[in-house]
Amino acid sequence: MKTALVFGASGQIGMPLLHRLGERGWRVLAVSRDEHSDAPGRHWLQGEFANMPPLPEAVDAIFSCGPLDAFARWYSESHIDAPRIVAFGSTSAMTKHDSEDEHERDLVRRLLGAEAALFASSEQRGTTATMLRPTLVYGRGRDATLSRIAALARRHGRFPLPRGADGLRQPAHVGDLADAAFAASQSVAARGRAYDLPGGETLPYRDMVKRVLDCLEPPAKLLELPMPLFRLTLRVARSRGIARELTDAAVQRMREDMVFDAAPARRDFGYAPRAFAPTADMFKPVL
Ligand SMILES: NC(=O)c1ccc[n+]([C@@H]2O[C@H](COP(=O)([O-])OP(=O)(O)OC[C@H]3O[C@@H](n4cnc5c(N)ncnc54)[C@H](OP(=O)(O)O)[C@@H]3O)[C@@H](O)[C@H]2O)c1
Repeated sequence: MKTALVFGASGQIGMPLLHRLGERGWRVLAVSRDEHSDAPGRHWLQGEFANMPPLPEAVDAIFSCGPLDAFARWYSESHIDAPRIVAFGSTSAMTKHDSEDEHERDLVRRLLGAEAALFASSEQRGTTATMLRPTLVYGRGRDATLSRIAALARRHGRFPLPRGADGLRQPAHVGDLADAAFAASQSVAARGRAYDLPGGETLPYRDMVKRVLDCLEPPAKLLELPMPLFRLTLRVARSRGIARELTDAAVQRMREDMVFDAAPARRDFGYAPRAFAPTADMFKPVL
């Protein structure tokens, strides 16, 4: 029986990955900072990167579905033997490169630094790493974009966007990303490579939000406001502690295309993401 060590196992991509591994007969060691109950074939280890619980000397694969920089640092100093590493990064490393927001530029530096460090340390240890960079993620009610939009829309019955929010997006479902992680771990072609993982449909930001609002029970209304009025509405919302994470840079990006090519991932490990057909349950947290 093969064994996988999974970091970020309790997360929105980590959980479906645990199911995929279990369905394929793998034994899973799942790391979390919190306590969780074991299940057949799944053992939880409580700890964090700075204070790791005892780990086996060797596993068949390591999956990183949590913070990439902390994982890359830990891996470079660890002695665990694993022939395959699959780690999630983010396409933010490309899309936020020239952001006006200092925090976003810092995120880009950390993501790119962690990718390079992970490839370097895996090569040094004679193992092979694969980097997966999803676009905007949804599916388990825990993402910071569509689930937050759904939550606000449920509360207020409507959701405002600035006119012209037509930048293209490719929302990626967490189940497809979990499939991709497992498939990449089995692929010879994916060794030592990084892949963008967009969702299976490319659509304007406005249409993406409209589909979310339409699927809610009851549906919520989309309000398209002239930009000055939208900015004023946003300022009022922020002063009430709402939508603080919606930065000016994020508003600007609603008009910019963020499009990535799934072809290399399709070619090397059969990545086949679904079209964007949201349902209300995808925006409610799954416990
Ligand atoms: N969400 C998105 O839209 C998106 C987009 C592109 C890429 N990604 C990337 O895909 C990966 C998985 O994303 P996700 O949204 O599934 O993640 P998530 O649900 O936010 O978090 C994954 C897990 O990581 C663990 N974690 C968080 N902070 C930690 C810390 N400081 N130290 C140790 N463990 C920590 C948590 O587990 P415990 O609390 O159980 O320890 C958490 O459940 C991440 O690398 C993320 O950057 C996400």
